[in-house]
Amino acid sequence: MTYAPIEIAPSILASDFSRLGEELRKIEQGGADVVHVDVMDGHFVPNITIGIPVVASLRQATRLPLDVHLMIDRPERYIEEFVRAGADRVLVHQEATPHLDRALSMVREFGAQAGAVINPSTPVVMLTDVLDKVDTVLVMSVNPGFGGQKFIPIAYTKIRQLAEWRARYNAGYRIAVDGGVDLENIAELAHAGANTFIAGTSIFHAPDAAEATRELKTAASNAVRQRV
Ligand code: DX5
Ligand code: ZN
Repeated sequence: MTYAPIEIAPSILASDFSRLGEELRKIEQGGADVVHVDVMDGHFVPNITIGIPVVASLRQATRLPLDVHLMIDRPERYIEEFVRAGADRVLVHQEATPHLDRALSMVREFGAQAGAVINPSTPVVMLTDVLDKVDTVLVMSVNPGFGGQKFIPIAYTKIRQLAEWRARYNAGYRIAVDGGVDLENIAELAHAGANTFIAGTSIFHAPDAAEATRELKTAASNAVRQRV
């Protein structure tokens, strides 16, 4: 079984919004693989962040893939617009819609990669019937809504379970983890089976965002090499 390569996905939520272009250059220099964009609506989560026009601007400002994490109620209402704005991957929460299957199918129909996301309180079994429709499963390791929160360790158990199913059924989905990811926990997360590491604070609040990106990637890659 071959596994998807390690990816570091800096979350721009923790960046300086008045200098988004410069922030993007830093993470590009550090070898970031994906740009993670947190979209919040003030309903599904108790915060409001950025929307479609900013995704369109980001699309002009970097060649890295854009990962759009929709923390909005009934995300199916906006999937098409986010894909048109330039989202390469759209991540929708299981908890945000009664029609997760439809939402994931829509993402693929509009030409993007589909991801399903679960909150810390949602068990992984909620996703078993859509695993053939996802390119990524994202395990939240904080309650979504804000950057800079403390990592919740139940994520390890969920990642291990998803990795076990992936091996057992020879599935190809990536396992991503989001929230409180840093140099302290990234090796263990990689060992557990995660491939995509979303990190805001530990990258953009570090003295050197490029160096912080590089360090996270090295730590995760070394951990995976040890696993094989
Ligand atoms: C939380 C967001 C995360 C967050 C990660 O609602 O989905 O992407 O910005 O930031 P840190 O790394 O600061 O936890
Ligand atoms: Zn996120």
